[in-house]
Amino acid sequence: MITITLIGAGNVATHLYNALKKCEKVAVNQWFSRDLTQISKYNTEVSITDNLQELKESDVYIIAISDDAIEDVSKQLPFDNRLVVHTSGSVRLYDIDMKHHKRGVFYPLQSFSKAVELNFSEVPICIEALRKEDFNTLKTIGEALGCKVHKVNTNQRKALHLAAVFANNFTNQIYRLAHEICESEAADFDILKPLIKETARKINTVSPYKAQTGPAKRGDKKTIKKQLKMLDNDMQKDVYELLTKSIKQTHGQH
Ligand SMILES: NC(=O)c1ccc[n+]([C@@H]2O[C@H](COP(=O)([O-])OP(=O)(O)OC[C@H]3O[C@@H](n4cnc5c(N)ncnc54)[C@H](OP(=O)(O)O)[C@@H]3O)[C@@H](O)[C@H]2O)c1
Repeated sequence: MITITLIGAGNVATHLYNALKKCEKVAVNQWFSRDLTQISKYNTEVSITDNLQELKESDVYIIAISDDAIEDVSKQLPFDNRLVVHTSGSVRLYDIDMKHHKRGVFYPLQSFSKAVELNFSEVPICIEALRKEDFNTLKTIGEALGCKVHKVNTNQRKALHLAAVFANNFTNQIYRLAHEICESEAADFDILKPLIKETARKINTVSPYKAQTGPAKRGDKKTIKKQLKMLDNDMQKDVYELLTKSIKQTHGQH
């Protein structure tokens, strides 16, 4: 049995806790939050604390807190030479204080919101560790969660995190702009939902390059001109022009 101390009570920590408590090979030993009210409802099922000095001994300490606080909190852990990992896509492994020789990253590549249910078995876990046995411990945790585990180096993790910003955050913002455009003519955004689903489904079978369609890929200059005229919002115009340029460049249109 691998014992885990969870540090943080945000989106990731809460989803992790709820998934870990159902696993057979791992047990959450203790849960830390600087604001105890965030986790007080769990106090009948797990030991909770808001005091780092009270942390119990565990095999792994998972720090799932804001990126900017990871380094500082790792410095405050009142022990050394235990396995301490963070869950960030962009924070360096070496930002975990050096007194913890056993350092690692357990980065779940998914978008987590506390209020939105999520099937953890569909979350890829990107693992970095300095020592093979630590990698194996983290792999066991990932697999106990039913996740696909990937061994990555720092540059690969950072690239995946950056790619995730494009694939998730930017795509979602594009949905928002699409929503605004529908609203401007009182058209129902729901009518676009099958297209949105198909766009995501398609890349399971073909590359994003092959999946591309539309006026920019075809080089339909008149349609592009007409659509640009329809946009009265400068931000929407800028995004349309930039993405059209990017698609044209990728597909050799001028
Ligand atoms: N959300 C995602 O989709 C996602 C996906 C993959 C990885 N991650 C990574 O997972 C980590 C947590 O992200 P999240 O979305 O769960 O964040 P979040 O929901 O914003 O929660 C942040 C947590 O950090 C705590 N915290 C902040 N500063 C602290 C400090 N100085 N000392 C102790 N606790 C502190 C907060 O406590 P208070 O509530 O008291 O402020 C809160 O519990 C980040 O490294 C993030 O990059 C996030």
